[in-house]
Amino acid sequence: MASTISFLLDGRTTTVEFGHSSIYSPTTTVLNYLRSLPEHKGVKEGCGQGDCGACTVVLAEAGPAGRLLYRSVDSCLVFLPMLHRKQLITVENLRHPNGDLHPVQRALVDLHGSQCGFCTPGIVMSLFALYKNHPRPDRTTIEDAFAGNLCRCTGYQPIIAAAQRACAEGNADQFNKGEEATLALLNSIPRDSLRLESAETMYYRPAALSEALALKANHPAGIVVTGGTDIALRVTKNHDVLPEVIDLSALDEMKLIAEDAFSISIGAGAPLNDVMPRIHDVFPSLHRMLSVFGSQQIRNMATFGGNLGTASPIGDALPVLVALGTTVELSSITGSRRVPMQHYFTGYRTTVRRPDEIVTAVILPKPASNLITRSYKISKRRELDISTVSGGFSLRLNERREVESIVLAFGGMADRVKRAETVENFLAGRKWNRETVDEASSLIERECNPISDARASAEMRRIAARNLLLKFWCETEGLEADVESVVQ
Ligand SMILES: Cc1cc2nc3c(=O)[nH]c(=O)nc-3n(C[C@H](O)[C@H](O)[C@H](O)COP(=O)(O)OP(=O)(O)OC[C@H]3O[C@@H](n4cnc5c(N)ncnc54)[C@H](O)[C@@H]3O)c2cc1C
Ligand code: FES
Ligand code: FES
Repeated sequence: MASTISFLLDGRTTTVEFGHSSIYSPTTTVLNYLRSLPEHKGVKEGCGQGDCGACTVVLAEAGPAGRLLYRSVDSCLVFLPMLHRKQLITVENLRHPNGDLHPVQRALVDLHGSQCGFCTPGIVMSLFALYKNHPRPDRTTIEDAFAGNLCRCTGYQPIIAAAQRACAEGNADQFNKGEEATLALLNSIPRDSLRLESAETMYYRPAALSEALALKANHPAGIVVTGGTDIALRVTKNHDVLPEVIDLSALDEMKLIAEDAFSISIGAGAPLNDVMPRIHDVFPSLHRMLSVFGSQQIRNMATFGGNLGTASPIGDALPVLVALGTTVELSSITGSRRVPMQHYFTGYRTTVRRPDEIVTAVILPKPASNLITRSYKISKRRELDISTVSGGFSLRLNERREVESIVLAFGGMADRVKRAETVENFLAGRKWNRETVDEASSLIERECNPISDARASAEMRRIAARNLLLKFWCETEGLEADVESVVQ
């Protein structure tokens, strides 16, 4: 087991050693690491919690078909060991060795995409990731690329114009020319398991699932980290010391997405951005929910394993996964078991998962052609916001338009993601019409017991949930536009 990590920075393999005399801990964030280097102060800290994007950097890693995969991430949420076998690209690395600005920098300068400049390094890096991944992005793709980057003074129009110009130039930068050499350097770093110790933290980063399960069995209190987008906040915001960490982010087995005639199995460690293209056609309601999940930087790290691990009553992926009939795979050294997702939650952030188990996959049955599914997220902003109420619904009607089966799963309405079973039972066998839906929606109010908090009152949540059912009915009747104002 290695006690150091290695990654590429500034074209060279860089090694960081941990130990009692090191200034770095395994839970040091990449942001703090970069800020400690004299030549990498371009990266900025705004919020320290993934909301502003000022700390955006790009990570490149060996991807499929022998190409490099470029992902924007919030460096304030990434622990140093997650850099192992990756290339870390910062704003200082974009200038061509001959001194020319990178096309994305040139376009931002020419089109006046910066004023105070605080957000600019993060904007440049999000734009760089867009440039590497989307040759001719449409407006929606560009806006999505910047959903995780706040700019308070320039305004987004010149930034969007810069993106349109830079990405139209073709992806012919020095990173392309050096791709083979970069891949060779990355592949020369051994795919070791890591055991990193500092004065306060023992950090394991196993390279095989069997090893991870053995670690969890021997260290049941060890804190599991997959994408780190939740756990990192404990370090950056609460200043918690994490005594024992088991980092699953190197496990290829947990990133697999496999499909057969009946189901799609999604590894609990697959970043949500990798999941999205694989489910777009089969599960559009899940895709729609993921498209408003955090930002590009968050979805490049966040996973279903983490969303199920937090078991938050406002985890966005959860209601729609319940509605789709998802099964959760839990694994330990003694084997794996599958639990229907609706039985996975037992209370506020509690689940049936044993201390020696980890979530290894979610299995989604392919829907029959007559299954109607929808997902809804009500939040103050469309992008990068926490749900006030969310819903995942599925419905099957018979030829007389009576309800054959229905699942209504809500987030934000109880101590856990909750199916409105009384409402479902009331609707079963009844005509799917406005009168029935009106009657059913009054039962939602009785069945769910939401809380009042800074985001919304309990009353507002009850009304929103009722309106979501109405919106769902309207959509099944082709009346979507008529109720848009009721729900927003
Ligand atoms: C800026 C920002 C925006 C966000 N936006 C959204 C949003 O729109 N919607 C939303 O739902 N969430 C959002 N989140 C929360 C977070 O991104 C999600 O909960 C995400 O799914 C967590 O995944 P992760 O892999 O990063 O989890 P991690 O941080 O690695 O882990 C989260 C929790 O799950 C446990 N865990 C992780 N992996 C496993 C596993 N395989 N088995 C068992 N337990 C495990 C960990 O121990 C921890 O308790 C946001 C977070 C940030 C910082
Ligand atoms: S500092 Fe704001 S997202 Fe990292
Ligand atoms: S240029 Fe000032 S915040 Fe964007």
